[in-house]
Amino acid sequence: MFSIAIFLVILISVGRHTFVLGISPMPSSPRAIRELILLVKSADSPIVELGSGWGILSYKLARAFPERQVIGYELSPVPYLFSVLIKYFFSLTNLKLVRANFLHQKIPVGAILVCYLYPGGMSEVEKKLEEYKSSSLISNTFALPNKKADKIIRLEDIYKTPIYLYDFKN
Ligand SMILES: C[S@@+](CC[C@H](N)C(=O)[O-])C[C@H]1O[C@@H](n2cnc3c(N)ncnc32)[C@H](O)[C@@H]1O
Repeated sequence: MFSIAIFLVILISVGRHTFVLGISPMPSSPRAIRELILLVKSADSPIVELGSGWGILSYKLARAFPERQVIGYELSPVPYLFSVLIKYFFSLTNLKLVRANFLHQKIPVGAILVCYLYPGGMSEVEKKLEEYKSSSLISNTFALPNKKADKIIRLEDIYKTPIYLYDFKN
């Protein structure tokens, strides 16, 4: 009985935040994660994940780049708590997880932004870009509405999922 109640609370919490935020905490596919890791490899700046969900991508990034700071922002409490468990279980000292709306955060100057959001979320991110002063943005599946991507990579999956790369250094 107790476990059913816990399960329902989790389900309601995740469902409510999915409704409010307009996106579920569905993780990037393993193929997308591999590509995202390759794309952030060439720089040495901090990596900021906008909407880190269950923390799977943050975990992979923090493991792949132990010398770099990885910050994940997530609002949905259940996925956030799960990601914190992963962080402590694997002692990822370079990974910082924050339960907050990334639209209201101060992002380290020159950071690489990584996200997997939805069209409305990308509009919001676009409005914040001046303020963020990031060096680049890498977005799984969804493009910024008004900016042309510097590069588009298509994953070799059935959807030919696009990964959009925006370089703000120039
Ligand atoms: C599709 S998931 C992607 C998870 C992870 N980035 C990945 O690629 O595996 C998008 C996540 O963004 C979170 N999110 C959406 N808008 C947000 C906001 N303004 N602030 C913080 N988190 C947000 C959602 O709660 C959701 O967990």
